[in-house]
Amino acid sequence: MNGPTAATPVEPCDFTVFGGTGDLALRKLLPALYLRDRDGQLPDGFRIIGVSRAEVDDEGYRSMVEDALSEHVAADELTDDVVRRLVGRLHHVTLDVEDVSDWHRLHDRLKDGAASEDVIRVFYLAVAPALFGPICEHLDQVGLATDRSRVVLEKPIGTDLDTARTVNEAVGRVFDESHIFRIDHYLGKESVQNLLVTRFANTFLEPLWNSRWVDHVQITVSESLGVGERGSYYDRSGALRDMVQNHLLQLVCLVAMEPPTYVDRETVRDEKLKVLQALRPLTPELVDRDIVAGQYAAGLCDGAPAPSYAAEVGHESSTETYVAMRTEVQNWRWAGVPFYLRTGKRMAERVSEIVVVFKEPPHPMFPHSEGPTEPNRLHIRVQPDEGMRLHMTAKEPGPGGIRLRPVSLDLSYAAAFGGRSPDAYERLLMDVVRGNTTLFMRRDEVEAAWAWVAPILDRWSRPTHRPRRYPAGTHGPVAAATLLERDGRSWQETE
Ligand code: BG6
Repeated sequence: MNGPTAATPVEPCDFTVFGGTGDLALRKLLPALYLRDRDGQLPDGFRIIGVSRAEVDDEGYRSMVEDALSEHVAADELTDDVVRRLVGRLHHVTLDVEDVSDWHRLHDRLKDGAASEDVIRVFYLAVAPALFGPICEHLDQVGLATDRSRVVLEKPIGTDLDTARTVNEAVGRVFDESHIFRIDHYLGKESVQNLLVTRFANTFLEPLWNSRWVDHVQITVSESLGVGERGSYYDRSGALRDMVQNHLLQLVCLVAMEPPTYVDRETVRDEKLKVLQALRPLTPELVDRDIVAGQYAAGLCDGAPAPSYAAEVGHESSTETYVAMRTEVQNWRWAGVPFYLRTGKRMAERVSEIVVVFKEPPHPMFPHSEGPTEPNRLHIRVQPDEGMRLHMTAKEPGPGGIRLRPVSLDLSYAAAFGGRSPDAYERLLMDVVRGNTTLFMRRDEVEAAWAWVAPILDRWSRPTHRPRRYPAGTHGPVAAATLLERDGRSWQETE
């Protein structure tokens, strides 16, 4: 068993988080920084500055973060001396983005006690996208946007193509594209990165990875949780904006992209962009035919009664909590191969998986055999239990005739590599400090993705649009199953 190799420390940095007392910072960013600190990746002089409107001093912020760590980091990963070290790096600056006089406080805090004059500065914007432009403008005005600064934009980048362009232009007036890190945390997941390695560091798949041998591709990202506390954001967003425009389309890109000359920041992003540009353009008729919107009704989830979406957000709503779709990547490699995507909240289980279903053998070679023959399938499990499973047909041992049996070759990351699989944010935050943009979305990618979903947003904005209901704890609306049945196929549910 090969354990993970040791982490290389990054340079000293002032890591500023706007929205420093918010849910993302406390639940994901600070736990990720804690774990990087625990593994020796944060050097002396690495400071973390939480920025928010809250009237909290450094001490108050430190105890808030300490509580968050004990809640969001597994108990066996927490040690007192690392908690003390991380908490010692923390500061808090109370700042109202709109109030010009507040900005000097951040400026002074960053100048005061920095590891060096030209220390790397990261500005992580875990706030509403409407604030991205104004924050960058203020950073520029107070002289904090330098060649050594990087800005991180949490999704959503806008709410449609126009607003995304506005945000990108405002941020781009201050920061060069090479200093802008648009996070899609799915790209930081181990198994998602491994998809690139599996495809491009091995030779056996590549000759089969095309319309000649692949029948279709399925991508599922399902969650068993509902919208919970995030109802007010979610109700304005919906699954299409929250998951499809970013996470699912990024997964499509990685499955479908051509091999770049080598794996590097621009080469990978160039190839992903080509996939987005090759997605079958949507007309209103195709939206109605090939895309299903759903919303959960009350049901049973994880063995407990779960309320409806309307009950969770407190009113009737036409926001979709589920999307299933059929699309195609219209290029030489993939012509005619359907890509079926689906994502939803309050589904039967939490599972993210990519399934590549290969074609049937061209000729039935075992006419007198018994038992089912199933086409080969490669299941790439993104979460939980990351790994890969190749489904094959084998002969059941025994004398007499030939009995066919489906069997699988399993690769479990946990069994192969042991240890904990790092959270996506751990990898991505360190990439930001190092200035490596490979796993971040470039402006043209984000805009191409918004351009592709625009006809769906348009069609679903009609007052008559109603998502189809599905009981919480199920696989989604019946229409999603029909989408595949129409093509003589069915969704691969987890075994
Ligand atoms: C976020 C969405 O980007 O991804 C959430 O806003 C969703 O609604 C989450 O729950 C899913 O991420 P993960 O890593 O838990 O699959």
